[in-house]
Amino acid sequence: MLSLQDKAKQLLDKNARRGKDFYYTAPSGKKYPHQWSWDSSFHAIVNCRLGRAGLAKEELLTLLGKMLPDGTLPHIILHEPSLARFANRAFRFYWPKSDRSPLVQPPVVALAVREVWQTTYDVEFLQETLPLLERHFEWLGTRRRFGSSHLVSIFSPWESGLDHKPGFDRLLGHFARLPFGRYAVLYTSEMRMALHRFDPEEIVKRRYFNVREVLFNTVYALGLEALGTMFAAIGDLQKADIYRARSDSAGKAILSECYDKASGLYFDIDVRTGNLIREPSVSSLMPLALNNVPEEDYQALVSHLTNPDEFWLRFPIPSVPRNSLHFRPTPGFYLWRGPTWINTNWLIAEGLRRHGNVELADAISQASKELVERSGFREYYNPLTGEGGGEKDFGWSTLAAII
Ligand code: GLC
Repeated sequence: MLSLQDKAKQLLDKNARRGKDFYYTAPSGKKYPHQWSWDSSFHAIVNCRLGRAGLAKEELLTLLGKMLPDGTLPHIILHEPSLARFANRAFRFYWPKSDRSPLVQPPVVALAVREVWQTTYDVEFLQETLPLLERHFEWLGTRRRFGSSHLVSIFSPWESGLDHKPGFDRLLGHFARLPFGRYAVLYTSEMRMALHRFDPEEIVKRRYFNVREVLFNTVYALGLEALGTMFAAIGDLQKADIYRARSDSAGKAILSECYDKASGLYFDIDVRTGNLIREPSVSSLMPLALNNVPEEDYQALVSHLTNPDEFWLRFPIPSVPRNSLHFRPTPGFYLWRGPTWINTNWLIAEGLRRHGNVELADAISQASKELVERSGFREYYNPLTGEGGGEKDFGWSTLAAII
């Protein structure tokens, strides 16, 4: 019988796409044939930990190679001239570059590059990728940071990677409540941004969707820290200090600006009003991965995570807690409204390990492995029954093999 690791390798190979000048792993063969930024970064992390750093390098170089000159790291990249690509082109005709999204996703890429570095100690790879990572993080820190806050903004729910998370509902207006409404609103708001060439200044001025999202900012702070580590590794101590300080500031900003003391959870900020969007989701737990989270607040998060009425279900960690009105454990038309996803399990388990909470991290690891053994590498899972939902043979669920 194949081990979970071998099954993971098999799936990553099955979803791998190679061309003249690219190599990447598609999230799934059917619905997601292209390269997605945070998916690709997760795939690279798995390949790295499964002893295939070479593939991880190729995948990350393909991704970073498609960065736009200003530092935008596209959330979707279309490499293959297939029918699917044609359909997507027709659908996303308003993108300034037809093969690349003008939006971004949580910058997991910096964690993936650090993973390659810590596995291979390949200085050449670091010298090739660090300037690109730096350009992207500079772009985030200048073009996506407004006012005096150290947090960065997302301009579409798609940029969070948590597309239809309930917290976004109230920001999307009445149309979103019609059948297919959220999709219609997301596409039309992207087209509206296209009218202004996706220029951040214009988007802010027009008071379009502008949110400081907790998971995105946590990954941003962790990414800055990874940059600090890597600059130190190549002996650029000045830059190492700069990025560590930025990571510290971003982390502290999450901990102070997004914290809701009454509930002990972290919430997104609607930048237009300055208000917290008090709608719990798995994103609310992410700051436990930060190294500067105060002990008391860390413990508050752990007690939410381990509460059977909230996140500690038979197969943790649901994307929305059980006691939320929005909790839907079964597959639905909209994503991230209840099911358990393996990538958020991995991010939280890594955070717990960092804080020495091995037992809890192991429990998440166990549950994730069990999900995959029972139901295969699915896009997401019912947190009560373990049944798989969405796409089959889904790439980042291979994280279960290394969690
Ligand atoms: C869905 C997910 C997003 C992911 C994409 C490709 O849109 O919400 O996070 O990157 O699929 O797998």
